[in-house]
Amino acid sequence: MPKRRILVTSALPNANGSIHLGHLMEHIQTDIWVRFQRLKGHQCIYVCADDTHGTATMLKAEELKITPEVFITDIKAEHEQDFHDFLISHDNYYSTHSEENQVYSSLIYNRLKEAGQINVKSVDQLFDPEKNMFLADRFIVGACPKCEAEGQYGDNCEACGATYDATDLIDPVSKISGAKPVLKKSTHFFFALSNFSAYLQEWTRSGALQEQVANKLAEWLEAGLQDWDISRDAPYFGFEIPGESGKFFYVWLDAPIGYMASFKNYCDQTEDLKFEDFWDTDSECEVHHFIGKDIVNFHALFWPAMLNTSGFRTPTKVHAHGFVTVDGQKMSKSRGTFINARTYLDYLQPEYLRYYFAAKLNGSVDDLDINLDDFIQRVNSDLVGKVVNIASRCAGFINKQFDGRLAAKTSNPLIQEFAEQQSDLANHYENRDYGKAIREIMSMADKANQFIAENKPWALIKEEGNRDLVQQVCSDGINLFRMIITYLKPVLPELAKNTEAFLNVDPLDWDSLEVNLLDHQINVFKPLMVRVEGKIVAAMIDAGREKPAEEKKALINESDPITDEIEFDDFAKVDLRVARITNAEHVEGADKLLKLTLDIGTGQRTVFAGIKAAYKPDELIGKLTVMVANLKARKMKFGLSEGMVLAAGPGGKQIFLLEPDDGSEPGMKIT
Ligand code: 2FM
Ligand code: ZN
Repeated sequence: MPKRRILVTSALPNANGSIHLGHLMEHIQTDIWVRFQRLKGHQCIYVCADDTHGTATMLKAEELKITPEVFITDIKAEHEQDFHDFLISHDNYYSTHSEENQVYSSLIYNRLKEAGQINVKSVDQLFDPEKNMFLADRFIVGACPKCEAEGQYGDNCEACGATYDATDLIDPVSKISGAKPVLKKSTHFFFALSNFSAYLQEWTRSGALQEQVANKLAEWLEAGLQDWDISRDAPYFGFEIPGESGKFFYVWLDAPIGYMASFKNYCDQTEDLKFEDFWDTDSECEVHHFIGKDIVNFHALFWPAMLNTSGFRTPTKVHAHGFVTVDGQKMSKSRGTFINARTYLDYLQPEYLRYYFAAKLNGSVDDLDINLDDFIQRVNSDLVGKVVNIASRCAGFINKQFDGRLAAKTSNPLIQEFAEQQSDLANHYENRDYGKAIREIMSMADKANQFIAENKPWALIKEEGNRDLVQQVCSDGINLFRMIITYLKPVLPELAKNTEAFLNVDPLDWDSLEVNLLDHQINVFKPLMVRVEGKIVAAMIDAGREKPAEEKKALINESDPITDEIEFDDFAKVDLRVARITNAEHVEGADKLLKLTLDIGTGQRTVFAGIKAAYKPDELIGKLTVMVANLKARKMKFGLSEGMVLAAGPGGKQIFLLEPDDGSEPGMKIT
């Protein structure tokens, strides 16, 4: 079969928040597809990036008193680490705030303009007179014009579901400054999407979309397309529109172009990889986007229209998926089910979640529910109880009785049967119907276990003259295990890697399925996976839960009485100062510590603080805190600590750094 050349993307995570279960479902889904293509020997390049631009990033950085550039750099490092730890095999993880992205965004915009597809219109928009900026809908709140519910955003009402213009809100206020917004005129630039109805009617039915998605888009196309506002006024964190001072590209204009930019950046570091091969209109390569169903309009309407007009190829496929729910409900911070990647990783193995998502994904846009009991049960019974069990039942005999040597031949019909599943399983992976693939693989595991149970090597070995048979049964068992692990490799890459080490083989791939291990030396078996404990899952949920105020009060430890009085002079010796945290970073090899750089007005201090469980470094940068400034520097394992920061709470995640009022300045003495 000819080798396919495939470029794959997941939607670019926003730079203003942490990676959570929703992102993970998408990236794990994409990664399984990518790893499957590579396992089959195709060239499959997987790129992603942080989606950095927009008002939200700008305001968040402002709040932290750092530049947006510093803010997005820190969060990108966090995102990359999270994805890496979930075994997501991005070839390149880049940023939309990059030179490549600016070049392609400007190029595409200029071509749209040359093609006469950019219109300029004057619009009336709400403006914050205090902050001196135009307000996007979600930065305006007021009462719903229909049901009068208070505190509704400028686009729709969460109480009655009405949609409206921000200008229709009753008593609107700016969420940023609290000021009453005023109407102001501004010139905006529009992409003339309304000219593309006929083109998109055809494109959306060209096979690039799932039928469910194409049907939904047909409804919108039927209703008629509006031109798309692609500009925003300064101040805005983004790219200035060429030749239009004070006007910036709307974040959604440059976000998908970020796919190209990340790929271009990767091409520039990779020999024999040409951007044009993948993006020219006559390209024979494939481009696949994996996205959530909430952003199909951007990927299946705006994006193909932009690409087509600017002389680039359009995507081969846009694979949309639904949302994640937990125990049947939307993820929720108060219930602890809004689970961040890092919270999960603090408690559980990434492959449990990869397996669970795979078992439930079916290639549709339906939502995926994580039922926590089902999660525990499936991982334990399928992976530990069925799959790994095959190897652990057979390996001991081979290792101990036969010096790790497998039998020299096999005629087991199951081996043939498993090999014949190849094309069926390949189709399921290709169609993203991973659930079907997992069901078939688990039925193979059942058959392999049944074969071992029927032949009872543990009984055979006790009888005279059955040694060869024991070796044969266990060797067959191990070969069946090898095939099952090969089929599972896109989902469980770490388990596959450890299995390769145990089997003493080169990396397993689709071609190696047919090659039995005969008269082959294996290594000593070590447990490949441990069971998930219900109490660990419960602890993770508790750790992720945003605690209500009463619960925080309960953390005040009543068995912690105030004792050991000190003299005033003792107290007076402690020099407490306001300090600005100018940098915070993880300390390699330290479980609890963060390394803080503190500005105390007269200079910088380095302090190692045991607050890693409670804070991410980027949350801290820019904050004011209180430090003991005259504590003698102490040499710690990781470096010199020149003071201490003050915090309250019993420990672990429940540590609250003291933050003096913003009116104070670094260096001020606490009196
Ligand atoms: O919805 C989101 O989170 C966006 N940041 C996705 C962008 S995908 C692409 F177009 F960049
Ligand atoms: Zn309403």
